[in-house]
Amino acid sequence: MSMREKLEVLERRRAESELGGGAARLKSQHDKGKLSARERLDLLLDEGSFTELDRFVTHRSTDFGIEDQRPYGDGVVTGYGKISGRLVYVFSQDFTVFGGSLSETHAEKICKVMDLAMRNGAPVIGLNDSGGARIQEGVVSLGGYADIFLRNTLASGVVPQISAILGPCAGGAVYSPAITDFTYMVRGTSFMFVTGPNVVKTVTHEDVTMEQLGGADTHGAKSGVSHFTCASELECFERIRALFRYIPQNNIDAPPRGAGTDPRDRRDEALLDVVPDSPNKPYDMHDVLRRVIDDATFLEVHQDFAANIICGFAHIGGFSVGIVANQPAVLAGVLDIDASVKAARFIRFCDAFNIPIVTFEDVPGFLPGLAQEHGGIIKHGAKLLYAYCEATVPKLTVITRKAYGGAYDVMSSKHIRGDWNVAWPTAEIAVMGPKGAVEILFKKEIAESSDPAKATEAKVAEYSDKFANPYVAASRGFVDDIIDPRDTRPRIIDALEMLQGKRDRNPAKKHGCMPL
Ligand code: HXC
Repeated sequence: MSMREKLEVLERRRAESELGGGAARLKSQHDKGKLSARERLDLLLDEGSFTELDRFVTHRSTDFGIEDQRPYGDGVVTGYGKISGRLVYVFSQDFTVFGGSLSETHAEKICKVMDLAMRNGAPVIGLNDSGGARIQEGVVSLGGYADIFLRNTLASGVVPQISAILGPCAGGAVYSPAITDFTYMVRGTSFMFVTGPNVVKTVTHEDVTMEQLGGADTHGAKSGVSHFTCASELECFERIRALFRYIPQNNIDAPPRGAGTDPRDRRDEALLDVVPDSPNKPYDMHDVLRRVIDDATFLEVHQDFAANIICGFAHIGGFSVGIVANQPAVLAGVLDIDASVKAARFIRFCDAFNIPIVTFEDVPGFLPGLAQEHGGIIKHGAKLLYAYCEATVPKLTVITRKAYGGAYDVMSSKHIRGDWNVAWPTAEIAVMGPKGAVEILFKKEIAESSDPAKATEAKVAEYSDKFANPYVAASRGFVDDIIDPRDTRPRIIDALEMLQGKRDRNPAKKHGCMPL
């Protein structure tokens, strides 16, 4: 055969490899409101930037009737491309080929891009749409999953790993996304569960729908398994691309600078009026964040889960930062189990990838009660404490109002290596709130008084004057300064610049024993 004829064969095979499981299955995929594996990559990556690897790989099964069907690619499209000009490695499972199920060769293709990502220091994005382990391959397929889990674990904290769930994700298959850093789900078409509704019915006699058990809203708002809930696949890819504005390529590189034009010395008059005069009145911490960050552009993570704490990325003065903020508008900003775990995980990502952490604090303490204690608030709260203590990236804290009790220590206090801690004049830094403190300290005196209400009021005023302010902490150097709220943005930018060269490290060890 001549070169030209051989090239024709190659072109034919290339075209065949693009067909996946065929036109009928592709139509069924579209009818379900889902895109094909290749359409997804086109939308995710910069136009024309995708280079495919392993397009001619086929499975090795010799059993169960699939020995005669060996579609090219074996149910997953893998390779590399660009997001805003930056290299990323990708795999996109093709549900039209044996339900996107994972065979030995399918797993090998995914492992190959993961190995390349590690070697070349670039993020990995997995687009998951799969019926799980390829049933016809048995243990070989299970081994393939384990090969991926191991790589997910070794890559954790080295390169960012992102999972989009774009179809079913069942059984052990959920554990690869669970190890990755950020999981995106699409309402109506994404599902994640260890066992599906039928097994649940048999084992626990509960009647549940796919949506209730493992839909996007379930994992976005209830379990916290998913970080981003999207209305469509298109929105999902746009939001993955947006994440790249804040995260670096790997654990050695610096995160990207913001492109905003917000002036660095911008003061904001409205910050004077955000915190209400009454300490028990709620306010929305987003109103503070919006006025401090560049161009009010905030990429919130876990928006619908544990809303009593806010986590997300922003640029401040062009610096990429991770923001952790108590939210007084939800449960008074109290720290509970979900909030602790949510923030701990976010802080560890930021620390692993050189992203400074800016904390906005207004926290009445940890949530009391039977449910929280029985649920293990002690060990879960300790995760947050551990994550803050362990983090060596620049840590900046602004106390807007309450910093009470253990929560004062936890929320990036000076004592756990906070680099720059400031308070607004409205800050109340004490062991507990005035009313609670007075009721304990002056219980007898108040009870014996002719007018207990008046006596309480007088003692509360006395206590507030003495303790519920930032001056005691400032006199000890536990806050570096008490600032005018209007200056919050320029002061943070100044501190971020000051901390650019920060070098800090933890003692050499194999790893810590985080309270999991
Ligand atoms: C081989 C599979 C498959 C699988 C689906 N298919 N799952 N082939 N292995 N695991 C094939 C179907 O035979 C069908 O082939 C095509 O994919 C589409 O599947 P349908 O059932 O027609 O699609 P749909 O109705 O949309 O249902 C999708 C589904 C269902 C919910 C994913 O297929 C399903 O329940 N599959 C099995 C899920 C599962 O239990 N997997 C194992 C989990 S345990 P044709 O030729 O008709 O197009 C696991 C262990 C992981 O994964 C190990 C880690 C520790």
